Amino acid sequence: MRLLLIGAPGSGKGTQAELLAARFGIAHISSGDLLRQHVREQTSLGRTAKSYVDRGDLVPDGLVMTMLREPVLAAAGGYVLDGFPRTVKQARASYAVVQPLGAEVQAAIHLDVPREELMRRLLARGRGSEDVEAVIENRLKMYQEKTVPLLDYYAGREWMFTVDGARSAEAIHQDIAGRIQKLAVIARPEG
Ligand code: AP5
Ligand code: MG
Repeated sequence: MRLLLIGAPGSGKGTQAELLAARFGIAHISSGDLLRQHVREQTSLGRTAKSYVDRGDLVPDGLVMTMLREPVLAAAGGYVLDGFPRTVKQARASYAVVQPLGAEVQAAIHLDVPREELMRRLLARGRGSEDVEAVIENRLKMYQEKTVPLLDYYAGREWMFTVDGARSAEAIHQDIAGRIQKLAVIARPEG
């Protein structure tokens, strides 16, 4: 099973990805967590990415693709990708990478959460230098500019759906899992 989680900063991508990974026995691959790990370990990728992450700008597409290639290809049993793709360009490029392996995406889940709730959650969490008001504002702006067009690009695909992300984490999880199971029935009528 291959899942994509798309949503604004603070929409619960990480929270839902953990729950889905545990439920379906698949790998959780978070572009943001991997970037933060590279920054902490001061790898060459991390040194380049640091200023983008600190400002809340998107890291250049090529860098993110390079970073994700190995973990995605290694996740033979399936994965939930949290925070990738985030631009139309990333979506096109990722399709080119996984499609020859016969590994099509099975569901893209959009977590829809109002802006005030996003702000409330992120200020309450306070993750390092990222969750301060100015950086949150910029992350939300990047989401509007770069990721909302990705939702339009995916709109109308039967494997893409939006869920109300302003409920309890457990209610959202049950909703997503139910919809994925319905999709799986449609995709594999013989099973
Ligand atoms: P990334 O790590 O992806 O950060 P983000 O999109 O800003 O999102 P967050 O991780 O802050 O929130 P989340 O949606 O995971 O929510 P969470 O579950 O934590 O990216 C960081 C940076 O890396 C980017 O700014 C960019 O620079 C770079 N980057 C990453 N991917 C990239 C890419 N593909 N291309 C280019 N650059 C990239 O929840 C948030 C809080 O809310 C938590 O405290 C949680 O406990 C709480 N919460 C969660 N669900 C609920 C709920 N249902 N009710 C109440 N509270 C909840
Ligand atoms: Mg996250």
